Amino acid sequence: MESTPSHSQDADLIRPTRDVLEHALVKDRAAMARAAEQDLQAFWAREAANFVWFNGWDKVLDDSNPPFYKWFTGATTNIVYNCLDRHLSTWRRNKLALIWEGEKGEQRSFSYHALSREVCMFANVLRSMGVRKGDRVTIYMGRVPELPIAMLACAKIGAIHSVIYGGFSVEAIHGRIEDSQSNIVITCDGGYMNGKVVELKQIVDEALKRCATVEHVIVIKRTGMDVPMEEGRDYWYHDLMTLPVAKTASGQSRCETEEVDAEHPLFLLYTSGTTGKPKAILHTHGGYMVGVATTLKYVFDIQDDDRFWCTADPGWVTGHSYVVYGPLLLGATVFIYEGGPTYPFPNRWWSLIEKYGINILYTAPTAIRGLMRFGEAWPNRHDLSSLRLLGTVGEPINPEAWRWYHRVIGKGACPIMDTWWQTETGMFMITPMPETPLKPGSGTLPFPGVQADVVDEHGNSVKPGEEGYLILKTPWPAMMRTIYNDNERYVEQYWKKVPGAYFTGDSARRDADGYYWIIGRVDDVIKVSGYRLGTAEIESALVSHPAVAEAAAIGLPHEVKGNAIHAYVMLKAGQEPSDELIAELREHVSHEMGPIAKPEKITIVPGLPKTRSGKIMRRVLKARAQGLPEGDLTTLEE
Ligand code: PRX
Repeated sequence: MESTPSHSQDADLIRPTRDVLEHALVKDRAAMARAAEQDLQAFWAREAANFVWFNGWDKVLDDSNPPFYKWFTGATTNIVYNCLDRHLSTWRRNKLALIWEGEKGEQRSFSYHALSREVCMFANVLRSMGVRKGDRVTIYMGRVPELPIAMLACAKIGAIHSVIYGGFSVEAIHGRIEDSQSNIVITCDGGYMNGKVVELKQIVDEALKRCATVEHVIVIKRTGMDVPMEEGRDYWYHDLMTLPVAKTASGQSRCETEEVDAEHPLFLLYTSGTTGKPKAILHTHGGYMVGVATTLKYVFDIQDDDRFWCTADPGWVTGHSYVVYGPLLLGATVFIYEGGPTYPFPNRWWSLIEKYGINILYTAPTAIRGLMRFGEAWPNRHDLSSLRLLGTVGEPINPEAWRWYHRVIGKGACPIMDTWWQTETGMFMITPMPETPLKPGSGTLPFPGVQADVVDEHGNSVKPGEEGYLILKTPWPAMMRTIYNDNERYVEQYWKKVPGAYFTGDSARRDADGYYWIIGRVDDVIKVSGYRLGTAEIESALVSHPAVAEAAAIGLPHEVKGNAIHAYVMLKAGQEPSDELIAELREHVSHEMGPIAKPEKITIVPGLPKTRSGKIMRRVLKARAQGLPEGDLTTLEE
């Protein structure tokens, strides 16, 4: 792999201000990391002691059958007991848990008491509809409070939620419902995004024509638009919540939280990999709870008077871990905004920070780059002085965007937590803490207890400054447990490439100070605006169009999105290329997969570069498109 200069330049280090250091929970990260390295299990056991366990654990970590690691074995708990129930007997009962603003400016807020009440009632409804411990429930919604409420209601009764991002569409939903064998779908009539209505229920209806398992659909009224309701299958959420079943026999809005094993599945979250079939990453109650809360506490330094805003959609892992579960576990106040950042004007986010006095903002590089384009005047119109810490996630952040975020939004006083992690890791893995000296564009160091490395194809560590594969060498509590129903694929994809280590699929460099610089994916995953998409899924959406014989998708650099999808298609015999057909194909991908997967550009080609065994050589397409050397072509078919 190519060698690049090391980024170690001490002059570049951005050190925290005295205020930040005084506030910081962790003053000496190196000491914390040493303690965790010396005794990993004691480190995590200390953090686990902050939670309620109905039964204590026999072992902190069971590593007798790697890579099927188990955490807190023998213990019982429920993440929802720790997110909600336990706060109700403290002063936090009346603290705001959730503040929400809709795209049209409506406001709703929930204290811990109010959130728990709503969750209890919906959990009772789900139970009355026959949902039992271990059942899978699909959730497909816009960003409304009922999304976290539905997730928590499922987890409370031991059901396994599978949230599908509201930007996905028909085929993506069908594939995920079928794989998870859910028989209940919770959705909204529609959702608001960037001033438009997303027709969520209609998309669900279309997807359900392709799946047989679903018995009931619960619909939240968000837009009030007209939607067909199928009798016996579809129910309005607001009707169900007024039924006697939503309450206990004595008329109270209570619901017993199910005691579950620490290793009981909490959720499935589908993510893209190297094949066309999305894989369901499985996370559990106990370890995920400890990992997510601990990382959030130390990295974002959350304290009781903070208002935390993570702009991610709860439909992605960032939303699961750091909009829903992490903040509630810490008894924090979380803010959720329904819509797009530039609606109706590019100051919407900045006005929300001022209006709600947000202290911590956690977002994605693509959003920063997008907002940067509108200039400084928009944020400068607002008082952003409540901000104390900033964060970023999802893709590498270019130093230019980092510096703008730091200077214009953070006024030079808010450190930026550039957190590297994945759906699979569940929690931050390489990340600064407020005390860590920063280098723009680097995620800095592994979280205490995490041992990472950058290696070559034989698994040997590469020299500082050299590019290699990023691997993780120690288990961590919030790690995925498996791919749902596919242990073999789990072992094959993550644990085979470098024996004994977790293979992240990312390439990285480590500099002379031990700081990590993530470069990007080494597999067929494309990060578009931080969203993770598989080339194979896009290709399979393209070939499902009757005019297409074969297709190849690649990611090419894009100024705002990071990467944009470019597709090459071969038409079936008798099909004529035309601009109309290209427009139709782009729409087709959007309809099947979702607008986020719509290719930037489609080129109709007479043939695709393939190996002699018939595999499309995407790297050749990529090099050609960028005018770069095409590399080794010995395996290329004539
Ligand atoms: O390539 C890395 C990139 O996002 C991938 C994980 O995507 P996903 O599972 O969708 O989770 C995204 C949110 C955690 C990683 O393999 N990535 C994530 N965070 C960063 C990043 N790349 C660079 N810097 C980051 N901070």
